[in-house]
Amino acid sequence: MGILKVLQPLIFFSLCLHTILITADIQKGRKPYIAYMGASPAEKTLASIESDHHSLLLDTIGDETIATDSKLHSYGRSFNGFVANLLPHEADHLSNKLGVLSVFPNTVRQLHTTRSWDFLGMPLNGTKRNLKVESNLIVGVLDTGIWPLSASFDDKGYGPPPPKWKGKCVVGGNFTGCNNKLIGAQYSHIGRRPDQNLSPEDKEGHGSHTASTAAGVPVEGANVYGIGKGTARGGVHSARIAAYKVCWHGSCSEMDLLAGFDMAIADGVDVITVSIGGHPRQFFQDSIAIGAFHAMKKGIFVACSAGNEGPHQLTVKNIAPWVTTVAASSSDRQFVSDVKLGNGATFTGIALNTFSSTKKMYPLISGARAANASQIYRNASACDFDSLSDEMVKGKIVYCLGKNEQDVTLYSKRVAGLILSQDKDYDIPSSFLIPGTTVSIKEGLKIDHYINSTRKSVATIRKTRSIKMADAPFVASFSSRGPQFIAPNILKPDVAAPGLGILAAYSKLSSMTGHPDFDKRFVDYKIASGTSMACPHVAAAAAYVKSFHPTWSPAAIKSALMTTAKPMKVNTKDMALASGSGLINPTKARDPGLVYDIYMSAYIRFLCKIGYNTTTLGILIGGDKIYDCKSFKPTKGIDGLNYPSIHLQVESNVTTFSAVYKRVVTNVGNAKATYEAEVASPKGLSIKVEPSILSFDKLNQKIAFTVTLKGKFNRKDATLLSGSLAWKSSKHSVVSPVVVYRYIPPIW
Ligand SMILES: *[C@@H]1O[C@H](CO)[C@@H](O)[C@H](O)[C@H]1NC(C)=O
Ligand SMILES: *[C@@H]1O[C@H](CO)[C@@H](O)[C@H](O)[C@H]1NC(C)=O
Ligand SMILES: *[C@@H]1O[C@H](CO)[C@@H](O)[C@H](O)[C@H]1NC(C)=O
Ligand SMILES: *[C@@H]1O[C@H](CO)[C@@H](O)[C@H](O)[C@H]1NC(C)=O
Ligand SMILES: *[C@@H]1O[C@H](CO)[C@@H](O)[C@H](O)[C@H]1NC(C)=O
Repeated sequence: MGILKVLQPLIFFSLCLHTILITADIQKGRKPYIAYMGASPAEKTLASIESDHHSLLLDTIGDETIATDSKLHSYGRSFNGFVANLLPHEADHLSNKLGVLSVFPNTVRQLHTTRSWDFLGMPLNGTKRNLKVESNLIVGVLDTGIWPLSASFDDKGYGPPPPKWKGKCVVGGNFTGCNNKLIGAQYSHIGRRPDQNLSPEDKEGHGSHTASTAAGVPVEGANVYGIGKGTARGGVHSARIAAYKVCWHGSCSEMDLLAGFDMAIADGVDVITVSIGGHPRQFFQDSIAIGAFHAMKKGIFVACSAGNEGPHQLTVKNIAPWVTTVAASSSDRQFVSDVKLGNGATFTGIALNTFSSTKKMYPLISGARAANASQIYRNASACDFDSLSDEMVKGKIVYCLGKNEQDVTLYSKRVAGLILSQDKDYDIPSSFLIPGTTVSIKEGLKIDHYINSTRKSVATIRKTRSIKMADAPFVASFSSRGPQFIAPNILKPDVAAPGLGILAAYSKLSSMTGHPDFDKRFVDYKIASGTSMACPHVAAAAAYVKSFHPTWSPAAIKSALMTTAKPMKVNTKDMALASGSGLINPTKARDPGLVYDIYMSAYIRFLCKIGYNTTTLGILIGGDKIYDCKSFKPTKGIDGLNYPSIHLQVESNVTTFSAVYKRVVTNVGNAKATYEAEVASPKGLSIKVEPSILSFDKLNQKIAFTVTLKGKFNRKDATLLSGSLAWKSSKHSVVSPVVVYRYIPPIW
């Protein structure tokens, strides 16, 4: 495996594949394809489904031995399909067979942490809970597996798994098994070399981190080398955890992801959290969208991370409307590591420096002044690989520009520490192999100036401390932004949750920076950042809402989370594209007043509207039923879906626009209630709501209304107009962002 680390705490994983595909001669040139056949036939046994798959393959390939060897996996618990090694023409051939809805090549997806629950308004003691229901809820985690020995997964005080649980615990390798907290652990390892030591064990820590953020038990005094000390816990700490290992060596293949959904749905989980993603594609070719659709059909809520490619626009992942797409925000805690210079000046950098502070001052040098003269083509200012003279930096603290891997490069040079300066907004507390911290470019210039103007420059880097931030929350710099072009009038991401500096359980099999050869810091708890860390907060919040409203659909729960969310405290121009409805507020979501519900048939009408036909609908939904868009009443309104946010995307040449939205709200608050529409709109955008008063006299009553947007982009280069619609009663406020976006392609 190549060097995993890009920016360690972000848990970015390299795409470098460690997948060993079966390469017997006859399989030469074949690659794994997923043949997807829709919903699983209820009347058939798994054995007969597998035999159908074999017949199809035999028919396609024509040779019994090759057909047998080619098949890698049969899905059949929650939907029907299989994975086989095929040549491109065979894949083509197979896709034309009766019953086969689509055949698509397997690709690899990327993995995308306690203060955060307190910050979200759910203190350990004093949060209203429906414990009886909560302890029967199961959170399914599709990730890198789980480290079962963590104190976060201790089952003291837990009864047996809920009766509806149909999953299992696969023991193997060093995996010690499950308990009444971690009720299931399974893995999928399709198309890789068989290995009897395989197990759901988490060797990377990512899956243990996300699982404990969602549903870990409270563990007092959790910390990382004394940093961030407090009670680590999940949002629904009474719920049970079912882990599905679908990622190996940091990469997650579509075939394993689909297998994860197949197992989790059939096992009876209530919510699924997926901190994995890849480039957006049509829903019928996207295993997360397909898996989540089947989950939605069964009433299972699915939360997915938005991705870590921000702050650039057009980077959001996992955008299917039946998924809740999660952006990462800060909490009100940040981890800082100070630098003190010989002249007494002190700078506050952002980092997770676990190394103990000493009073000792070390010689300080900049990369620019320590260049290896025979390496003129390398960038010494940025301390690039091989750019520095070993002798000049040894035993010193080195000041470098930029941010990639310098700690790895400098580690072998036996330096005393590293000060990095960043030119962009920098908010990620990174951990380094050596003492280190990250300062802003402005502070960096002062440090550089001190180095240049002092004969014997010295400095020291202090151990990390945590500070409380007044300006919180803000959206994390790395969090992926909208818009997206697959379903352009659906605003994504949907909501934000804390994903910056999150402390949660880790795996003892992985070291802090993921470089076990040099880094011997094996920890029980780790502080990590990424939308991966934000996602399980939303899955847990959904489970929390569900514990009070067990019959609510995933769309109703999502609506509750969206319409009660809070705005960010620090705003940027494109905030709506970064945080959607805003920061979740779980206790408020318990009582949203009104919900925007969406049923299966409404999703179908929506898909018809965005261009799906009988074939593509069949692919996504599966089953024997034929869905013909003509037999569905066309959906009204420009976006065609009763979505809890309102979004319009227009082409670059559009200056004036007008669009109509149809919405229906269901009364889930007080039986008798009157709501009045309150709109906030920027200059250039008019938001008209009809009727503007909704009077309910019973529970579950539905009332329809229309929103008309009209407006104009006044400036040639303007791309965004954002406002809001709030339905207000004496008790509730039900808020939807209203966002108009004009895409102006970059000029090359
Ligand atoms: C919360 O409650 C537990 C058990 O009732 C108690 O041991 C703990 O001290 C309480 N913690 C706080 C912060 O009040
Ligand atoms: C089990 O643990 C031992 C000791 O840590 C290790 O050497 C071995 O590789 C592990 N086996 C597997 C299958 O992970
Ligand atoms: C400078 O780079 C050259 C070429 O890679 C290397 O041989 C030499 O040891 C380096 N010098 C120092 C002082 O690190
Ligand atoms: C060296 O790297 C820094 C930081 O990435 C960059 O700003 C600078 O332009 C680079 N210098 C050269 C000569 O490439
Ligand atoms: C300090 O000196 C280095 C090279 O000697 C130069 O590249 C850098 O710009 C100087 N920094 C300041 C702040 O003057």
